[in-house]
Amino acid sequence: MPRYGRIGRVNIVVGVTGGIAAYKTVHLVRLLIKAGHEVTVVPTADALQFVGLPTWESISRNPVTVSVHDDVARVRHVALGQAADLVIIAPPPPTRSRRWPPDWLTTSSARRCWRPPPRRHRPRDAHRDVAASLDAGERRHAARPRVHIIGPDDGELTGGDSGPGRMLEPEDIFAAALPFAGPRDLAGLRVTVSAGGTREPIDPVRFLGNRSSGKQGVALAAAAAARGAEVRLVAANIGTEVLAEARHPSIRIERIGTAAELAEAMKAAAAASDVVVMAAAVADYRPAAVEDGKITKEAGGMAAIELTENEDILAGLVASRTDASQTIVGFAAETPRDEEDLLERGRRKRERKGADLLVVNAVGWKQGFEAPDNCVHVIGRTGEVLVRSEGSKREVADAVWDAVVGIRA
Ligand code: CTP
Repeated sequence: MPRYGRIGRVNIVVGVTGGIAAYKTVHLVRLLIKAGHEVTVVPTADALQFVGLPTWESISRNPVTVSVHDDVARVRHVALGQAADLVIIAPPPPTRSRRWPPDWLTTSSARRCWRPPPRRHRPRDAHRDVAASLDAGERRHAARPRVHIIGPDDGELTGGDSGPGRMLEPEDIFAAALPFAGPRDLAGLRVTVSAGGTREPIDPVRFLGNRSSGKQGVALAAAAAARGAEVRLVAANIGTEVLAEARHPSIRIERIGTAAELAEAMKAAAAASDVVVMAAAVADYRPAAVEDGKITKEAGGMAAIELTENEDILAGLVASRTDASQTIVGFAAETPRDEEDLLERGRRKRERKGADLLVVNAVGWKQGFEAPDNCVHVIGRTGEVLVRSEGSKREVADAVWDAVVGIRA
């Protein structure tokens, strides 16, 4: 379950319209409740044909009504919409319904300036006109800064056909929708984050690598997307489970393996980025020669490996920066004697590389790598500690973005 460091308890109205995907919304409500949020479900009368009222009440732990005539004295349908930090409509109404019937859901959600976006169930042989009208509808809704369309997914549809039109899975809606209730201070920024650890091949079965899991870099990408950035995540050998945390409509993932591939990807991405974060652990050296066949003891083995130095990607990005407003952030994992030594190493490294910010943390045999938590200091251009953050890697990521927002202001 993702933890959102900067989003506290959110007041959420979940609107449900009549569609078979309403059963998925039950799980979405469960996820929201489990994460500690206050949820009121507002189904249309039609939605109750698919999932009944007792289910919504027991899952949301709140009374559910579909009539604007209930509790009229307290004008409940208006109060509900006004109090909501976030309104999620899932599933959305069918494409062709221009207006919804005036019911509980429309009257409550209208208070949040909501108009239903079209559901994009395109038939298998979608005609171009249909597609164009759906796209126009989406553009119209996207023009409203407070209305965000999440999905649709591509896959099997209820009618047995398949294509774009499936409602996203509850976990994906949860991950994408909730951050809209949090800060959006990176909106409009293009961000590139490198994460994980490079692997330098020795032969087809062996490599030189490091212990980076990629968790901190993935958390940085997810936090940036949640705060409104368009993110490119350059992922070096990150496990599927960790990478799943970066599932977000605004994150594009590019997988690479070696330091040379990382260098190439970062140079290409940096040219179109407002912020570049080098969170990946890069191998400083690679084997001078990579054997085509497996090195065997029979054929002499490998008592020593000759190494060649890899380029310093971060220093190169700083040196070749053409946009003076671009922010470049480096990371450093150190094994210091004490905190003072840690900061000193961080300051020297920031200066040597020329990064605008350097995020430094202590690592050891049992510290830092693969752990869900982290403790970092963010060092600025004059060597001062701008932020000290300790907590989940997501919380630390948000603290790093706070520092980025701070120096760009
Ligand atoms: N880095 C890089 N290219 C390299 C090595 C490191 O871009 N070839 C980046 C890392 O992504 C990180 C920062 O530089 O953001 C510091 O990494 P680190 O390995 O600590 O730096 P080194 O220069 O290798 O220093 P050390 O000798 O202490 O390992």
